[in-house]
Amino acid sequence: MSWFLIAAAAIAAVVSYNLIQRLRFKLPPGPRPKPIVGNLYDIKPVRFRCYYEWAQSYGPIISVWIGSILNVVVSNAELAKEVLKEHDQKLADRHRNRSTEAFSRNGQDLIWADYGPHYVKVRKVCTLELFTPKRLESLRPIREDEVTAMVESVFNDCNLPENRTKGLQLRKYLGEVAFNNITRLAFGKRFMNAEGVIDEQGLEFKAIVSNGLKLGASLSIAEHIPWLRWMFPADEKAFAKHGARRDLLTRAIMEEHTLARQNSSGAKQHFVDALLTLKDKYDLSEDTIIGLLWDMITAGMDTSAITAEWAMAEMIKSPRVQQKVQEEFDRVVGLDRVLTEQDFSRLPYLQCVVKESFRLHPPTPLMLPHRSNADVKIGGYDIPKGSNVHVNVWAVARDPAVWKNPLEFRPERFLEEDVDMKGHDFRLLPFGAGRRVCPGAQLGINLVTSMMSHLLHHFVWTPPQGIKPEEIDMSENPGLVTYMRTPVHAVATPRLPSDLCKRVPFDM
Ligand code: HEM
Repeated sequence: MSWFLIAAAAIAAVVSYNLIQRLRFKLPPGPRPKPIVGNLYDIKPVRFRCYYEWAQSYGPIISVWIGSILNVVVSNAELAKEVLKEHDQKLADRHRNRSTEAFSRNGQDLIWADYGPHYVKVRKVCTLELFTPKRLESLRPIREDEVTAMVESVFNDCNLPENRTKGLQLRKYLGEVAFNNITRLAFGKRFMNAEGVIDEQGLEFKAIVSNGLKLGASLSIAEHIPWLRWMFPADEKAFAKHGARRDLLTRAIMEEHTLARQNSSGAKQHFVDALLTLKDKYDLSEDTIIGLLWDMITAGMDTSAITAEWAMAEMIKSPRVQQKVQEEFDRVVGLDRVLTEQDFSRLPYLQCVVKESFRLHPPTPLMLPHRSNADVKIGGYDIPKGSNVHVNVWAVARDPAVWKNPLEFRPERFLEEDVDMKGHDFRLLPFGAGRRVCPGAQLGINLVTSMMSHLLHHFVWTPPQGIKPEEIDMSENPGLVTYMRTPVHAVATPRLPSDLCKRVPFDM
């Protein structure tokens, strides 16, 4: 009985607190929240589409109550600018759930760190050390090696009889490039051999990544209603075991690198070497180094492969655009050599195709949520301290007020008007903007451009037998990152001589 009374009193206190909040502040409009759960059960699985639909009814800034946590979503360029530029600093914290809290050791990494001295220091390491043009250039051979390996396996597979009709599943090839590229760049390791077989350490790495996703997904409703957490204790043991397993693997790799550095002259360009040699200069703890390495993996792996898959789907849907890119290749690069990243600056139409893909299919359509560290006003509404703020960059990039025929895939729009996509133009924000803008933006752009250009220079892509281009499923999977709901399949027909389809392995 007494438990019942305590619970009833707690519920009453929370409901009245929420009510007072709503009366005290002029909050943005939105769907009517239910007691305790708020709008949690009204949100459709593909969140950014649901928020977009609500914005059509309530306007470009809306309140969504997820349990007792206020989430504000903005959906036009003007409000995005207020969030990411004018009130940038007050909105630069992160919301951590129990899983991200545990894995980031209370924000000791970069992605989940709140804005403050630790964040500023680690961000400086990224800007001045990890993502400099010099380092990106020195890691170029890794990217080029991986895309040529992809071309070789597409070439080997495309002539198998079943693949001439059913087509190849592009995600498999793009996923391998992204996996090998990011593990080599972060850990200096290619876990996969030339036959595509993953070694023991690589299998452990993959198991850790998928276990992390599983643990993140296992969180209960109490995640959104902090005062209910005592009733749903998180599986602390599982979190701790996962953390220990991740640290063990990362420490083993770090030790291998330390030994290798002692036995050779100077450090290599991989992030693990860079961070270990910069440890003292920037006073980085081991938790921060491990956290940063895993940030790069989680933020950099899926995003590039997802964008390239969407972009290829658009190419298969639009033979006109595909042909135009290939004509540009033939004019600039020719048919008797493999292209390189150095060719990109002479391929303006290709760059427009990449940009148009990022516009229509940003892989993180709601970016990562920001959290307010002070009361702030956006669009004339109050955003109380502690609210989460999301920019629906997917909706912003489809806003007919700033884009002509926004739903049409038309790369030429960027030949007519040059629009920046790295945070300077608030109509196009696949990487966010402001102090938390993606530090890996240029790397991501290079990787997506590289994957697309090699696939399109080497092969003509057509839909599987019996499927019309307009029948390709262009709907999205739910999730923080937006995969295509149905992996795209396509038939590849080589257009360059076969001797240009061989991988030239590069050990780095
Ligand atoms: C297609 C490629 C990519 C896209 C579209 C993308 C997009 C984004 C977005 C939208 C954010 C959140 C910005 C914000 O909170 O305002 C972000 C953050 C981040 N990204 Fe990327 N990203 C990509 C590739 C990469 C790569 C390749 C890396 C590193 C190897 C990377 C590392 C990070 C990190 C560390 C953060 C957290 C920054 C912070 O909290 O200060 N990203 N990214």
